[in-house]
Amino acid sequence: MTPDGAAPWWQEAVFYQIYPRSFADSDGDGVGDLAGIRAHLADLAWLGIDALWISPFFRSPMADCGYDVSDYCDVDPLFGDLAEFDGLVADAHALGMRVVIDWVPNHTSDQHPWFLDACSSPNSAHRDWYVWRDPNPDGTPPNNWVSAFDLDEPAWTFHEPTGQWYLHLFEPAQPDLDWDQPAVVEAMHDTLRFWLDRGVDGFRADVVHGIGKDPRLPDDPPAVAGIPHCALNDEPVTHERLRAIRTLVDSYPGERMMVGEVFLMSTEAVATYYGEGDELHLAFNFPPLFAPWLADRWRACIEDTTSALDPRGAWPTWVLSNHDNPRHRTRYDRAAARAGEDEATTTRRSEARARAAAVLLLTLRGTPFIYQGDELGLTDADIPDDRRLDPGGRDGCRAPLPWDATSDHGWTCGPGSRPWLPLPPESSTRNRAVEEADLTTILHLYRRMIALRGAVPALSRGSFEFLDLADGVLAYQRAHGDDVVTVLVNFEERPVDIAMASLAGAEVLLASDGTATTGGFSGVLGPDQAVVVRG
Ligand code: GLC
Repeated sequence: MTPDGAAPWWQEAVFYQIYPRSFADSDGDGVGDLAGIRAHLADLAWLGIDALWISPFFRSPMADCGYDVSDYCDVDPLFGDLAEFDGLVADAHALGMRVVIDWVPNHTSDQHPWFLDACSSPNSAHRDWYVWRDPNPDGTPPNNWVSAFDLDEPAWTFHEPTGQWYLHLFEPAQPDLDWDQPAVVEAMHDTLRFWLDRGVDGFRADVVHGIGKDPRLPDDPPAVAGIPHCALNDEPVTHERLRAIRTLVDSYPGERMMVGEVFLMSTEAVATYYGEGDELHLAFNFPPLFAPWLADRWRACIEDTTSALDPRGAWPTWVLSNHDNPRHRTRYDRAAARAGEDEATTTRRSEARARAAAVLLLTLRGTPFIYQGDELGLTDADIPDDRRLDPGGRDGCRAPLPWDATSDHGWTCGPGSRPWLPLPPESSTRNRAVEEADLTTILHLYRRMIALRGAVPALSRGSFEFLDLADGVLAYQRAHGDDVVTVLVNFEERPVDIAMASLAGAEVLLASDGTATTGGFSGVLGPDQAVVVRG
């Protein structure tokens, strides 16, 4: 709560993740940029978005599409410059939208001046800013940790000229910083100050649970062999570091915030990164992102979240897709495809699921994050072998956003140039212009659902309680004061009769497959349909 009793903005905001390479291109080089984002801010305001999270746009050799930073305090020329960024923040604020940027504290690029200096000699000023160890007597790496993208590869690279291994939980081009060094802490705090001074509203902190490591660097237990160390690292010292970061962020006026990527598959463990309200403001929780389209699995995810977070007074987040995983329509589509079934039927079902999932995302108790393009119901692009770029195989979900039905879908490229990745498969029908012109599209569903959430406090800040109504249906009530709203999500491919007398004839506020309110609730949910009713 803020001093006047209102919830902080980041608890009620609908966030939208922008992956800048793929959002919109202003200069025709086939790669999205800050001016492209700026040109489309009004489109996001139209949708009802409250806050943007912009993935990295800092100077980078792009070994991991910008998650390998070589200068934390400048914009990569590919994306624009600091003046363009300042303009973007000013324009977003003028439209009533907050701006949250990515902060990559666990590792730098191997081309960062700090690491170049560290490599220059074992006695260099920045040597101990990174994690260096001597080889084992037999020449092998210091421990058995494996890196994130290639599970056959150690999280260590041998640096021939200085005779030691350096640690990298991700690519060799992403050496881990050593946060045990006060100078590293100070330098990284300065990078936060740099952007806070420029007016950003907060940060999404990349693999932030990595900034504390057991100084003994013990082997990972054999039972978890093959799991990358970044999904296992969970050290008490990180909490101390997060408290210092929280103090810094909170010292700025205007409710600045930090949402952390804590890539641990236990919601219980993730919850500890909120501390006692003195660490992360929010943390991503990934089990729902990996959950299949099954009511029981979703109920379990929600119950786990409630039981882990509520006792701490921690506020949940909800994510269906992001730049690291197949889009949820692709995941649900894959799950839906039946042998011998025609494509149109599979597509119809995955569309229905994506619509119901939008209602789910935007009616749960917590802060929802929409990944760019989900509002268009996009699926992943097919990436031919010769166009694969990402070491982690994540290109499909990072395809450029189709803006219109022209042949290049708004990605006007000069001669000899093309968008950096192929566009998604249905771009001639699923693009912003076509969907905006048709009230029946998923884009309009998102817009209506976001507006409803904004207009009905029960949906943004109300209490949450499950109802047991029918197998395969997730049903819950959100209440605020006297206002009670019931959400029904049918995960089944068949219609389901809802046996709840009090809902008969209740006012339908929104139906996932409808264009507008449809009057009284019939008591039957269509296949993969979600409805929001008052009462
Ligand atoms: C996070 C990012 C991912 C990146 C990795 C290393 O998981 O979301 O895209 O590759 O960190 O920075």
